[in-house]
Amino acid sequence: MNLSELVQKFEDAGQGHVFRFFTKLNETEKTALLQQATEINLAEISSLSLEWQETGLLSEDYSDLAPAPYIQHPASGGDESFWGQASALGEEGLRKGRVAAFTVAGGQGTRLGYNGPKGTFPSTPVKGKSLFQVFSEKIRASSDRYGNVIEWLIMTSIQNDAETRAFFKVHDFFGLNCRHVHFFTQGLMPAVDTSGKILMSSKGRIAMSPDGHGGSLRALVRSGHVQRLLSKGVDTISYFQVDNPLVQCIDPAFIGFHIKERAEISSKMVQKAYASERVGHFCVQNEKQVVIEYSDLPKELQEKLHPETGELLYPAGSIAIHILDLNFIARVGGGNDPALALPFHFAQKKVSCIDAAGSLFSPLEPNGIKFEMFIFDSLPLAKRSVIIETRREDEFSPIKNASGQDSVTTSKRDQSAQHIRWLKTAGEDVNDLETIEISPFCAQTESEFIKYWQALDPKPLLKDGMYLNLNDNLCSKQRL
Ligand code: UD1
Repeated sequence: MNLSELVQKFEDAGQGHVFRFFTKLNETEKTALLQQATEINLAEISSLSLEWQETGLLSEDYSDLAPAPYIQHPASGGDESFWGQASALGEEGLRKGRVAAFTVAGGQGTRLGYNGPKGTFPSTPVKGKSLFQVFSEKIRASSDRYGNVIEWLIMTSIQNDAETRAFFKVHDFFGLNCRHVHFFTQGLMPAVDTSGKILMSSKGRIAMSPDGHGGSLRALVRSGHVQRLLSKGVDTISYFQVDNPLVQCIDPAFIGFHIKERAEISSKMVQKAYASERVGHFCVQNEKQVVIEYSDLPKELQEKLHPETGELLYPAGSIAIHILDLNFIARVGGGNDPALALPFHFAQKKVSCIDAAGSLFSPLEPNGIKFEMFIFDSLPLAKRSVIIETRREDEFSPIKNASGQDSVTTSKRDQSAQHIRWLKTAGEDVNDLETIEISPFCAQTESEFIKYWQALDPKPLLKDGMYLNLNDNLCSKQRL
């Protein structure tokens, strides 16, 4: 499309002001603005703005809401043999090379107040390994265990992509083969004012922001990874967020349940710690599984108790760990079927922008609307989905805040506690231990650790503050 056609298209959509200062820009600025403008879906922006004006931040009707069913963990009464069968199925899938790992790492980490991609944040209790190192080692250990390379996809954003790639390069990909680690950036959406006009961050730049982790489905298709992986026989993706060092990046039981149920998306839940915990809630609405955010679910529903048990009626907290079927991602992210499009959520934000005269101003009150998609909105689009329970102490201690709850302090405490528990179950006296770290190359789960520990001869003397890293050198197959 040539310049005048593009300008005309923006004018027809009521967005002609985007080119108001075009003639005053230098050639580089002009090219950059044209590039941004070409990538904007004006019809999408127009219908979203209309939707915002009509419904705004109105709360939803939750009258037909019910708690979502889930498969209980053996520790809370679930059938151990059922879990054993699922694990065996998942392990078979892993040995056949059907699984890739996927981390969404495009967020800004604003709450943490850390200057850099969140994945580079030092997170472990003894070694201070970065979140990216933790995931790299877990994925490498799983690849070794199942005798197959597990590729790793990492979604970044335009703001942190270069820094993320550089970090991996400097650290030599933490022992992974760089050909098996794939970075791609997520999409952007323009911010608009309350009347739907696109905001400009300068005379030559549209104010754009990341389109949310739900944008990962579009980005996976657009980047070509979906087709590439499918053609190699990979059909299953293990999805996790960048902020949780306790995550089991590759969990055979979870993968097995997903395969067994022929699910298109599967999810892990934990029992909510308290009524107002800031996690999404797994629910059923119109006979479909949904996640309703802590910010959306009315307080009385968050606190509502089951009439018979007296427990929370909506206990299933989302820890944002999913297994996704790649063909499902191709359908949802491909954008060919409007019935499979993820909805956008609206967030009113302060957006620095220029006024009609071209002067930059920083608003004191929210002046703009940002549009974001959430991965869990794909749940109701799936033909089949399954939720399994996991134990919080085994798998969820995210680093979200600079201090207090969900901070690096609480996460390090929980990582140490997990490893001390493993030693205790293995029969060791752990009374003097408070801080300890075990490398994923020794074990990633309690049962793996017990086998590992029993076979270890001689055993090291246990000391507070120690790092158990006895097997690293054996795990370098990926490099070969
Ligand atoms: C999220 C979930 C919540 C869940 C909780 C568990 C949402 C809206 N809520 O909350 O249901 O209970 O985690 O920890 O997600 N990201 C991108 N691109 C973006 C935005 C985010 O890649 O445009 C990534 C971040 O890097 C991070 C993850 O998505 O890995 C979560 O984002 P964040 O905004 O921190 O979600 P929470 O509010 O913590």
